[in-house]
Amino acid sequence: MQPRPPVMLERLRRKVLSPLFDRLGYDLVPAAPDWSHRPTSPREVATLLESAAAILELDFSASGLTPDGDLLESVREFWALIPTAPVRQRRGGSGFNGALQLYVVMRALKPDFVIESGVFRGLTTWVIRQACPHAKIFCHDPDLSGLHYRDPQARYSTADWSKADWSGLEPARTVAFFDDHVAQGRRVVEAHARGLTRLLFDDDAAGHRIHAHGGPAHPTIAMITGPAHSPEPIRWTRNGRQFEQPADDALVRQAAGLIAQAHAFDDLHRATGYSPARLTYVALHPAAGGGS
Ligand SMILES: C[S@@+](CC[C@H](N)C(=O)[O-])C[C@H]1O[C@@H](n2cnc3c(N)ncnc32)[C@H](O)[C@@H]1O
Repeated sequence: MQPRPPVMLERLRRKVLSPLFDRLGYDLVPAAPDWSHRPTSPREVATLLESAAAILELDFSASGLTPDGDLLESVREFWALIPTAPVRQRRGGSGFNGALQLYVVMRALKPDFVIESGVFRGLTTWVIRQACPHAKIFCHDPDLSGLHYRDPQARYSTADWSKADWSGLEPARTVAFFDDHVAQGRRVVEAHARGLTRLLFDDDAAGHRIHAHGGPAHPTIAMITGPAHSPEPIRWTRNGRQFEQPADDALVRQAAGLIAQAHAFDDLHRATGYSPARLTYVALHPAAGGGS
């Protein structure tokens, strides 16, 4: 299980630091991951795991992916595994639901190579490693200073993934996972140019939900594949900043033509009570000539 914060530090936070931060308009809360709160009675644990597995079954059949064995068994394994995660994070990266989805989907896809763009503290690298013990993982993030988990077998780079040399990569045996706050339309175009066909996106959001996301990666997959584009741009505000996604720009049209299939997984909140996940699986049309 995750360790509790030291008692003295917790007292200092509650009595001194929290009131001070509160007056400044901030919340100071321990970085306890959501999975450190969990049911402990057997019936409630079973209900949580069975509900999650039932929803995942629907997602797998809608996405055309074949699970790696029995999904309920995989969910049970993940339930036992996640308390051992070497990353403590409450915000800024995946929680239980997102990590669970990544785990079962990576197990299903069985890649030999994984490109991970957007590493942050390394939780998702660790999840990928649990799901794919033998995969070669390529981790890209301009800021690797906050890693809590560094995979001994992975290759790390602060360069954008699109600048790296992928000549040795076998696209058919590769999955790219984008959780990097970069326009998802741009990532689709870049991945297609390199012959990749299997992509995962975190933080995919439709226009009416994107205001809730930090570092919005628009155009998102939902915007690209959503219902007929209205002539009106999508506009929203976040932390005082104004954002706008043009209704029908060249990137949206180009990316839409490359996507064969996209499936946004259920957020799992109603099954587990944990914060909603936002994972989307995208299959691209194969590149003419195989890509580079
Ligand atoms: C949401 S966090 C990733 C969280 C992580 N995948 C997890 O769930 O634990 C987004 C990360 O994207 C990184 N980022 C920003 N621009 C990027 C880029 N061009 N390429 C890759 N990562 C980028 C940020 O530094 C940040 O660490």
